[in-house]
Amino acid sequence: MCGIFGYVGNRSNAAGLAVNGLKSLEYRGYDSWGVAWKEGSALGLRKETGKISGINPESLPACSLAIGHTRWATHGGVTAANAHPHLNEDRTIAVVHNGIIENYQELREELKAKGHVFLSETDTEVIPHLIEEYLKETDDFAHAVRLACQRFTGRYGILAVHTTSDTIVAARTGSPLIVGKAPDGFFIASDTPAFLEHTRTVQYLDDGEMVITNGKSIIFSDLKTGEEKLKREIEITWSIDEARKGDYAHFMLKEIMDQKESVARAVNQNEEEIIEVARAIENARGTFLVGCGTAHKACMAGEHFFSIVAGKHVNVAPASEFKLYHRFLRPESLLIAVSQSGETADVLEAIQVAKSKGAKVLAIVNSPGSSIARAADYTLLINAGPERAVASTKALTGQLAVLMLVAYALAGKLAEGKKLLLETASMINDMLNPRYADYLSRVADHIKAKEDLYIIGRSWNYPMALESAIKIQEVSYIHAEGFAGGELKHGPIALIEDGMPCIVLAGNDEVLPDILSNAVQLKARGGYVIGVAPERNEIFDEWIRVPDAGAAQPIVNIIPIQVLAYFLAVQRGKDPDMPRNLAKSVTVK
Ligand code: G6P
Repeated sequence: MCGIFGYVGNRSNAAGLAVNGLKSLEYRGYDSWGVAWKEGSALGLRKETGKISGINPESLPACSLAIGHTRWATHGGVTAANAHPHLNEDRTIAVVHNGIIENYQELREELKAKGHVFLSETDTEVIPHLIEEYLKETDDFAHAVRLACQRFTGRYGILAVHTTSDTIVAARTGSPLIVGKAPDGFFIASDTPAFLEHTRTVQYLDDGEMVITNGKSIIFSDLKTGEEKLKREIEITWSIDEARKGDYAHFMLKEIMDQKESVARAVNQNEEEIIEVARAIENARGTFLVGCGTAHKACMAGEHFFSIVAGKHVNVAPASEFKLYHRFLRPESLLIAVSQSGETADVLEAIQVAKSKGAKVLAIVNSPGSSIARAADYTLLINAGPERAVASTKALTGQLAVLMLVAYALAGKLAEGKKLLLETASMINDMLNPRYADYLSRVADHIKAKEDLYIIGRSWNYPMALESAIKIQEVSYIHAEGFAGGELKHGPIALIEDGMPCIVLAGNDEVLPDILSNAVQLKARGGYVIGVAPERNEIFDEWIRVPDAGAAQPIVNIIPIQVLAYFLAVQRGKDPDMPRNLAKSVTVK
């Protein structure tokens, strides 16, 4: 949610670097953007609504220090005035911010009483004004930022600059900030793709930390006490090409196609670590799986993997509901936090709740070094590589694969699970061929004018029905809803009209006869039944063939729906990579 970027160093195109960096961060928000740069002893500023994609980085003036921001609006509408950076009145201080300053109204009133004038509706604008106030007490800019930060409640990652110094001061409480160390300067951004083409050497800020850099050196310190800290340098293994869309029209399509390899990468885990994690689940008194959005649907499918493969009961909740589970938690409990970004605020909150009760945490994440990975006792990486499209695709199948592998390990059948998953990876490779994509494009063409669409599934295909609905809703804006097959007759069936597309997710499993009878019920009400199944059935008006993948059926069943959602978006003239109102990394509650 909101992307921030800063560069200071020997290069003279800092503002251009900021524009390019922000383009890589647009998945975090894309309703407006802005850049501020140091121009002699003044600050230059450009802020606009809309996406940053169109701007030529070379159109900005030469400079060696710049900060920038791409916004997902929380406080105040989408206007240039609300876009970041925000400045104080005499334009000597500029700030970009990701997160929410919860006590901003109180601070705003206090500052107004001192004569400060505000130009935006944002919470962020109090930051430069408050720093200005503290600069009356100290001429050390970093110290003034530190004093201001001590007044904030809420979550923030901020970058601040001042006309009198050639430094960037950054502070983190709750929202991610990562330093990139290049031979000719320092980058600070919300995520690594922003500077991956310049450096892979990174240092992660933890909550309650501050960074000061002049481009030549960098100092990490405690945000409260100012005490200096040593930080480990980490080499990022993700390649630059993985973070680019290459010849694909959209990241979403590229990432769907990446699944030809990414599922196998997810399976490539250190066996000892998987067994250790399985042991932790076995010994836990209460295991809870949490995630948000797509990751939550992976957790729901995980519940079935644990039950069917290992006969183990686990609890599942959306991370945003988990704090209500505190009554069930104790030191012997285990929380499994599933997240692509590793930065989702609701998941981080769930971890805090679990830790406050002494419970252990296992993170299943895609982003190495992310806040969730660092907060956990055990971490399993899904190795999907950077996922940029807002709609999660390869991260989901990676999460499913890792959860399945853990379930097999828990059942003492790790080798069997690994074999099944590698066979599945190879089936996905065969499945994602141009003919299959053409066929799905034709199915999309047939239903693209519809405004409603329903998806049903049972057992582990039920969460995949919910996930299918999310995928179709978020990129095509068709009203899509997923249901448990058996629930149809308890309400949703009243919505079925003649010709309405109804997708039925099936596998060769114990619930096949039941889901087929639900398909018959849909058909009897005029539904246009699209079956996603290993075998054709006469009930299907359209058959989307998928391999027979046993326990990995949810993984192969969701893939054609991802492709279908992609084509529905494109054929309806929507940008699948940047759906309206959404952001990829949701760092607010
Ligand atoms: C947002 C994204 C979803 C994602 C969810 C959880 O809503 O748009 O694609 O599933 O956040 O994100 P996480 O990074 O925790 O998996």
